[in-house]
Amino acid sequence: MQTMAERIVIPGGALDPHVHFRQPGATHKEDFTTGTRAALVGGYTAVFDMPNNPIPTMTPAALDEKRRLAHGNIYIDVGFNYGGTLESSQTFQLVIDRVRALKVYMNPTTGNLLVESDKELETIFSMWPKKHPIMVHAEGPTFERAINMARKTGQRLHLCHMSLASEMQMIIDAKEEGLPVTAEVSAHNLFLTEDDAKHMPHGMGMVKHPLATEKDRQALWDNIDAIDIIASDHAPHTKEEKDKFEEGKGPYGVTGLETTLPLMLTAVNAGWLSMEKLVDMISTKPREIFRLKSDSQTYTEVILGDRPHVIDAKDLETRAKQTPFDGYMVTGRVANVDLRGVRILREGEIVGLPQGRVL
Ligand code: DOR
Ligand code: ZN
Ligand code: ZN
Repeated sequence: MQTMAERIVIPGGALDPHVHFRQPGATHKEDFTTGTRAALVGGYTAVFDMPNNPIPTMTPAALDEKRRLAHGNIYIDVGFNYGGTLESSQTFQLVIDRVRALKVYMNPTTGNLLVESDKELETIFSMWPKKHPIMVHAEGPTFERAINMARKTGQRLHLCHMSLASEMQMIIDAKEEGLPVTAEVSAHNLFLTEDDAKHMPHGMGMVKHPLATEKDRQALWDNIDAIDIIASDHAPHTKEEKDKFEEGKGPYGVTGLETTLPLMLTAVNAGWLSMEKLVDMISTKPREIFRLKSDSQTYTEVILGDRPHVIDAKDLETRAKQTPFDGYMVTGRVANVDLRGVRILREGEIVGLPQGRVL
């Protein structure tokens, strides 16, 4: 147990390749300004936005509209992931230089981008230029189908927000086999279980991948060295929308940009992983996988072993103002962020202007 507060620099700052800002189409949940403010307070210098908007990012026009809306309104750098369907595969060549990854949805979730058959999946994987990786939302048995497709097509595959012990084993096996697969975990799956979800109001623990069993959660920690990166999967919905889970049909997703680093620093403090591994998972490795360079003038300074403080949903910058970690005690904090030599977060307060770049 760490007792002295220590300031540590994360070179390049944190990079999150998996967030859902809701612009255009659902800005009552989040927009580029509120989303990047949340990201900045959370210690990120760059994030990649997912394609599952009401008008999904699966045409060159939808992509360019998002880039236009982001320009001038973002506090940190924002890149875009393209939605992969049979239809959009016709446009991959047209957008490859303006996106960071392909995202394929193999299970039903928010949005309308589901790809169900292996035949379609194979076409999509084969059409994708090999410059950037393919990210998949694949739960349980579908996880294995995604790995099989990576084997068949030789594509670099990134498996999003894994949560199960069985998925952990599949990753270990695929890596042993030498397949180009990488794995991502989110803080909510490292810290919470299905029992927690049962006791949370407002369907606040309802998310896909679902919160799993204590055994699953433990398997993630036991094999943390085999997990490449941590992503927030920041998926804002309003409290009123989440409340609909009381009738069994609310939207899935939890916010995470402002809680991930404090929680992970608390885990470092408790000795669950090393600070080196955390820096690797939140900056070095995502930059490597998604081929995003950084410069020496961009970094995040965090405090490890901070005096305990309590996460309070009403202090959040995200428009959704809710988190399953409301009331959690953490012992880590994001202090300062510099972007290309300009201080944009000072002792936890936003001091910069929206000078982020569209990647
Ligand atoms: O819980 C989730 N929410 N999982 C997803 O895959 C999508 C996300 C969202 O966009 O709300
Ligand atoms: Zn997902
Ligand atoms: Zn997601």
